Amino acid sequence: MNSIAPQKLIARPSPALRGSVSIPADKSISHRALMLAALAVGESRISGLLEAEDVLRTADAVRALGAELERVGPGVWHVAGRGIGGLVEPENVLDMGNSGTAARLLCGILASHPLFAVLTGDASLRRRPMRRVTEPLGRIGAQFLGREGGRLPLAIIGTGRALPLDYRLEVASAQVKSAILLAGLNARGLTVVEEPEPTRDHSENMLRYFGAEIVVEPKGKGRLITLRGQPELRGAEIAVPGDISSAAFPLVAALIVPGSEVEIPKVGLNPLRTGLLFTLAEMGAEIAIENERTMGGEKVGDLRVRAAPLRGVDVPAERAPSMIDEYPILAVAAAFAEGTTRMRGLQELRVKESDRLASTARMLAANGVAVEIAGNDLMVHGSGKPPPGGGLVATEMDHRIAMSALVLGLATKEPVAIDDSTFIETSFPRFVALMQSLGAKISRE
Ligand code: S3P
Repeated sequence: MNSIAPQKLIARPSPALRGSVSIPADKSISHRALMLAALAVGESRISGLLEAEDVLRTADAVRALGAELERVGPGVWHVAGRGIGGLVEPENVLDMGNSGTAARLLCGILASHPLFAVLTGDASLRRRPMRRVTEPLGRIGAQFLGREGGRLPLAIIGTGRALPLDYRLEVASAQVKSAILLAGLNARGLTVVEEPEPTRDHSENMLRYFGAEIVVEPKGKGRLITLRGQPELRGAEIAVPGDISSAAFPLVAALIVPGSEVEIPKVGLNPLRTGLLFTLAEMGAEIAIENERTMGGEKVGDLRVRAAPLRGVDVPAERAPSMIDEYPILAVAAAFAEGTTRMRGLQELRVKESDRLASTARMLAANGVAVEIAGNDLMVHGSGKPPPGGGLVATEMDHRIAMSALVLGLATKEPVAIDDSTFIETSFPRFVALMQSLGAKISRE
């Protein structure tokens, strides 16, 4: 993707957004579906797979590890798995592009296979910390050799005799939890992970769905997860719901562009992902959830949202895991609210695709919004009126900064430009067309 020339885009103040949009499939679930299907015995059928850069990297990686993948239609993939422990050594380096989830979860799978592999990624991914997974995975017997800080490129020598791990997470990270659980699939006995705060549980849900024995119990403020090793995972049918982290962009756009009314059907509503909906409701948003149902073990519903005046709120640090990817777009909503929004405990944002605490603040400051970083908190001071806009935002290889800045520009006084839209492809390939279909004015100049 780095070979494509940077694509500048401009978002202009837009008329009321109207209509219904079909948002892309959930990225977290899509990665996991491909990985577990590759580890299952027999064929899996995945429908509604997210066909965006990040997930396509996972598809390439599991193919390089010996799984057979066939795309039989848009978003519909058949995967013939190799069974737990059955992956083969990849012949070449595995390039995970921009995707932290792909890289970290794959480390877990590779750790408990007796093979040698090398992982790399783009400049953003090569900056991100990997020790959080290589340290616990080293304890099961895998060896990792990486750059300073355990960063990519990373060479891995996995083990065919993985020891089961009993591990308390140091950071509330679903990626680290998932890496350990995936490694534990090919360890004898019980792998136990304790998380200090609950994080997204798509891995647990899907492991159970594929036939693993997994028990989740509350422990203190968090959870204790116990997985029995070496189960037989059986090929399954998986329908992937829409990604609430992608829905967040048209949702906030509809809230801040006066007169808007937008419907977003089939959004995944896993309770560990819905912190943004809760926070926006506290800010005064009207978001109706209709037709609640389940899809492949995950809660789903249709969202209907109308423009509304917003007020600043205090967002507690405990809520961060349930909306960790939504802070840039929440900060955009906060720029239109009356009063200060204080988002607490955002240290994890510093190690996302960009340093999102800094890049979110810079995005707003460049457009005349009063914003401060205090320790690990982000404070946005809104006046209840549209901010000036007029800035050029550096997207820093971060899809969520790019999309947040474009949403900002739909309701500021002056247009907002971004320097590079290419990274939107990592999670939301049709973002611009979809926003245009609602009436958003986003164009190349
Ligand atoms: C993800 C977990 C989160 C999130 C990321 C996807 C996952 O990362 O930010 O976009 O699919 O497990 P952390 O585990 O680092 O919090």
